[in-house]
Amino acid sequence: MANEDIFKKVVAHAKEYGFIFQSSEIYDGLSAVYDYGQNGVELKNNIKNYWWDSMVKMNEEIVGIDSAIFMHPTVWKASGHLSAFSDPLIDNKDSQKRYRADVLIEEHRAKIQAKIDKEVEKAKKRFGDAFNEHEFLYTNQRVLENQAKIDELNNRFINALDSDSLDELKQIIVDYEIVCPVSGSRNWTDVRQFNLMFETKLGSLNEGANQIYLRPETAQGIFVNYLNVQKTGRMKLPFGIAQIGKAFRNEIVARQFIFRMREFEQMEMQYFVKPGEEIKFYEQWKETRIKWHKALGLGDEKYRFHNHEKLAHYANAAADIEFDFPFGFKELEGIHSRTDFDLKAHQTESGKKIQYFDNETNESYVPYVIETSIGLDRMFLSILSASFNEETIEKEDGTKDQRVVLNIPPQLAPVKLAVLPLVKKDGLPEMAREIIANLKYNFNCQYDEKDSIGKRYRRHDAIGTPFCVTVDHQSIEDKTVTIRYRDTMQQDRVNIDDLEKIIDDFVNFKTLLKKI
Ligand code: GAP
Repeated sequence: MANEDIFKKVVAHAKEYGFIFQSSEIYDGLSAVYDYGQNGVELKNNIKNYWWDSMVKMNEEIVGIDSAIFMHPTVWKASGHLSAFSDPLIDNKDSQKRYRADVLIEEHRAKIQAKIDKEVEKAKKRFGDAFNEHEFLYTNQRVLENQAKIDELNNRFINALDSDSLDELKQIIVDYEIVCPVSGSRNWTDVRQFNLMFETKLGSLNEGANQIYLRPETAQGIFVNYLNVQKTGRMKLPFGIAQIGKAFRNEIVARQFIFRMREFEQMEMQYFVKPGEEIKFYEQWKETRIKWHKALGLGDEKYRFHNHEKLAHYANAAADIEFDFPFGFKELEGIHSRTDFDLKAHQTESGKKIQYFDNETNESYVPYVIETSIGLDRMFLSILSASFNEETIEKEDGTKDQRVVLNIPPQLAPVKLAVLPLVKKDGLPEMAREIIANLKYNFNCQYDEKDSIGKRYRRHDAIGTPFCVTVDHQSIEDKTVTIRYRDTMQQDRVNIDDLEKIIDDFVNFKTLLKKI
């Protein structure tokens, strides 16, 4: 099945099974804003706990905070967001649609690349086993022409971005005859910068309200609390401050479901180090973070690093961890060596000394910072899309059946076990409820007595419940139940008293955290 179709199915599944709903859906929704449903919020909370535990619980030198969304407006002057947190926009005068100029160019480049890929596919079919892709790419005339177009486009594009030339971005759109996807015309406005921060007012207007912003990243809440935490926690370098919270960006090209949202959540950790040691810690955090992802067992091949060649003005090294989403490899997390840019800027703007006194060297200095920054919603999407599977299974009578299963890592699954009485009588519901009464302190359990056992299994496969426990007549006699494993569909008869241990072995974060 094409990846596009899989993605459509994942999006539909997320709604049908209570993971994600469009915000304000009864009013036709709000673009690029989403709500998490009853199963979504459980999965989201489990991801947060996995991240938080791996940072704060596992590292004695990392502590957490929860800073406010509203911050003093000068924070955003210091961080550079007021002057430089913007996208280059262009409008099509015929369709009245607005686009990111850089995205239009990237999409055009992707179209040329698709032509090359098509030629390769055609040649593969034609030549079969004898096909030599490398040779083909370097000799086929059409491929070479298209590759030359891409190279030239790339050159101009990178130069335009490097020199912040909006005129050159427009000229590229004109020269490559890029058309509006809606009107099909080339009737473009000039390119101009558009700041992504949402503005609001603090206080009533007649009191002289202050212009403030919804934070576009959680990191600044950490920087402005650096001194508070360092002093009250008597923290010694290197140490880290972690935070999970909402961020807001007025994204112009907001699409691909929860991949790019206007209101989203970040999980960020700033690691403060002695200047000169930042690259060592940058490399360490790259390693640690990729292990955190791979420990989930969704497939090591789904992750790759993309090291930035063009660095932001404040960074001296940066990389993304990319994930193989159904729409291709895209950024999931950023790891940045941010130097002392942020703390120094806050020191200048606030007039307060933000330094660290090093007892060993008797010097004061502004620490350097390594940042790990991951979007919680993107992480959610990576798990949902990698876990979604449609399977054909053979039933006991030899006939075939279909099931949709979410193979979510058991530790993150919204519901850990469903307890199902075989029939709604003979004391079986009571016994099922008693099992839940004992296990609900440890695990998120669900009671389910409606429909046949087969249908109940399917319902729980579809939300990723790793265990279904069935209570039958034998259970009353010998205090045993059947436990069915989601991934293998194997069923074992076990003592009720053993359930807690069996389930805990699968769902405890310990197994994940030990791999990091
Ligand atoms: N403090 C650094 C920072 O905010 P970023 O690369 O702009 O860096 C970090 O964002 C992460 O936040 C991204 O890797 C992505 O996972 C997530 N993210 C950024 N913009 C997002 C959006 N509009 N919707 C969902 N997630 C987003």
